[in-house]
Amino acid sequence: MEFTLWDRDINEVECDLLAMELFEDDPELSDTVKQFDRQLDGHISRLVTEEEFKGKEGKSLLITTLGRLKSKRILLLGVGKREDFILETIRKFAFHIVNKGKDSKAKKIATVIPGSSASDFRPQEYTQALIEGIILGAYQFDKYKGKNEESQECKIDEVVILTEVSGKAKPSRKEDLMVGLNWGRLVSEAVNMARDIGNEPPNIITPLSFAELARKIATDCSLDCHIYGPEEIEKMGMGAFAAVSKGSTQPAKFIHLIYRPQEIEKNKILALVGKCLTYDSGGLSLKPSASMKTMKSDKSGAVTVLAVMSKLKDLRPNFVVHGIMAATENMPGGNAYKPDDILKSFNGKTIEVIDTDAEGRLTLADALAFAVKQQATEIIDLATLTGACIVALGEYTAGVMGNNQPLIDRLLSEAKNTGEKMWQLPFDDNLKEKLKSDVADLKNLGDRYGGAITAGMFLENFVDKTPWVHIDIAGPAFHEKGWGYNPKGASGFGVRTLLEYIKQEKESH
Ligand code: BES
Ligand code: ZN
Ligand code: ZN
Repeated sequence: MEFTLWDRDINEVECDLLAMELFEDDPELSDTVKQFDRQLDGHISRLVTEEEFKGKEGKSLLITTLGRLKSKRILLLGVGKREDFILETIRKFAFHIVNKGKDSKAKKIATVIPGSSASDFRPQEYTQALIEGIILGAYQFDKYKGKNEESQECKIDEVVILTEVSGKAKPSRKEDLMVGLNWGRLVSEAVNMARDIGNEPPNIITPLSFAELARKIATDCSLDCHIYGPEEIEKMGMGAFAAVSKGSTQPAKFIHLIYRPQEIEKNKILALVGKCLTYDSGGLSLKPSASMKTMKSDKSGAVTVLAVMSKLKDLRPNFVVHGIMAATENMPGGNAYKPDDILKSFNGKTIEVIDTDAEGRLTLADALAFAVKQQATEIIDLATLTGACIVALGEYTAGVMGNNQPLIDRLLSEAKNTGEKMWQLPFDDNLKEKLKSDVADLKNLGDRYGGAITAGMFLENFVDKTPWVHIDIAGPAFHEKGWGYNPKGASGFGVRTLLEYIKQEKESH
């Protein structure tokens, strides 16, 4: 998909579809639309009245221009009330254009950034949101489907972006628009890359092929890369991670990527840790088949980390970033680890296994302790850790926990801007009691209640006192039904918030 900025007369744009916004509380047609209306002998205003189109968010009107204008169709899209207008409204607006564009088999679409005629127009952010909505909304995973002509016909090739409805984008803004366009593209490409890997089936993405992919990305993106196999994992003392991998015939891989800036300007060392179960069958505590379906998504945390790491050479933060992923399957083979086993983790703590399906926290225990050993000054982990988190917050929202409120607040505030929904869950000393074991330092399961929180508090044992945030993405990482610009399947959740966070950290003093 190609993007161009248009700074000439809107009348001159040749395209299959030209999309423009209408605010609900400002139903007066803009000067440009009025001008088009005149050229079409009042066809637009007639339709607006007939259809009672009032600019409600998500409502739209498609107008054929009968060869009288340079654009073949005009799409008027409602964006709701001005007071409710946020960046997410722009992403949704963009997604609607993509949908309508696909429906009408448009190849070249043009659009005015909604809100761009308002005086408080924030060019960079608005453009970024528009690009995100378009690229993310246009995503589909059809690699394994036979190619038919129809799917090819519905691909948009070119997007023209317009700002000021009345005329030209001011030159000072054009630079901002370019920055927004480029950043929007970078972020969305990273998300779609995460979706592509996340959607790969578990017979294709195994711990080995995931590690090979990580190595390739490291080479392409100038990252250091260390990959450790089963013997090294045992030798390093990662007894919890090693145990999880034992029931599988696929060898486990511990993946460590490092981004080193050319000049280190900050003492900060950020570690990103991602849960990497390429498949979670539950192990001996086998999942019922309905819950097993979609467990290819149990690698989503790692996929997000990998996609973020792949963009650091473009983003160029001025501090070191580690990407840490303990890749394995959780299978019930003859050599599988068992409920009752007592495991010794990388930081020396012992863990009694209650349930082999609570495996993510075991792999993360060693990965987090490894991050501490790298002298990380800040750790963020992402994990499809608990079904309980989905019960607590619904499938669209990630649960955020940790030992450092300022860091939690920073991430929550970035998440708000990116449109990734996150909500904090409280650690609780009473719940902590439930992780006490009679025979080991900890057990790997509390009881039914507060399962997302006990899982988070389990992890806290492995980060020492390093500032740390845990993001449970079990809900939003994968969707069986698409919603908005999140198509069904892997969502690439977390990529946008993490990239935005790293960008802000780079710019802060
Ligand atoms: N990978 C699952 C969590 C999960 C559930 C992710 C649904 C995405 C969607 C995790 O390893 C798991 O199996 N958790 C169990 C824990 C249970 C044994 C206490 C769960 O949540 O059911
Ligand atoms: Zn599990
Ligand atoms: Zn799991």
